[in-house]
Amino acid sequence: DRSIKIAPSILSADFANFGAEIRAIEAQGADWVHVDVMDGHFVPNLTFGPPAVKAFRPHVKTVMDVHLMIAPVDAYIDAYADAGADILTAHVEAGPHPHRTLQAIRGAGMKAGIALNPGTPAQAVAHLLDLADVVCVMTVNPGFGGQSFIDMTAKIAELRAMIGDSPVHIQIDGGVDPVTAPKVVAAGADVLVAGSAVFRGGSVDKPGVYGGNIAAI
Ligand code: DX5
Ligand code: ZN
Repeated sequence: DRSIKIAPSILSADFANFGAEIRAIEAQGADWVHVDVMDGHFVPNLTFGPPAVKAFRPHVKTVMDVHLMIAPVDAYIDAYADAGADILTAHVEAGPHPHRTLQAIRGAGMKAGIALNPGTPAQAVAHLLDLADVVCVMTVNPGFGGQSFIDMTAKIAELRAMIGDSPVHIQIDGGVDPVTAPKVVAAGADVLVAGSAVFRGGSVDKPGVYGGNIAAI
């Protein structure tokens, strides 16, 4: 399904009101709920871990999309399966064995995602695509919401050429707003993560599919 999907990141939500925030973005048309897990090691920021993600689960009626910015990854996969993640994404830079990590994520019953930092070439995931349901192209250096968009159009187009029509989603994460969203969609993306654009008074259109937008919360 190549329709454009919006995945608001609750990193920009009110941390004291996650249940209400999740219900609000789903009522506005969110397709997936994006959950940013950071460990203060792989990225210079800390968010939440498996018990918090488990607490989000009953509020998410769509798809719980968990983005791990942690290293190492493998020891925590079962905890996120138990927490109810539908999609679990790990970074290709997080360890020497991303192939094993993707196998383990699928083995634990989740869809598997592989994320690339801005400095990582598309080729880094060329031999992982058979094991991935989502490729997440970071358009900021991971760690914080509200950063400015880094143009990864060429990488997105290269990945789209590699993936073709096979059912691997190309997700864009970082600095997505009404100006940058159409550019990444034109390059071949189909899933748009948006944190500050959704939660801080803006909106994100779903070009070509969703006539409206996810209004300000
Ligand atoms: C960055 C996170 C993103 C982030 C996006 O490390 O992975 O999901 O919250 O936030 P915005 O849309 O504000 O760039
Ligand atoms: Zn993210």
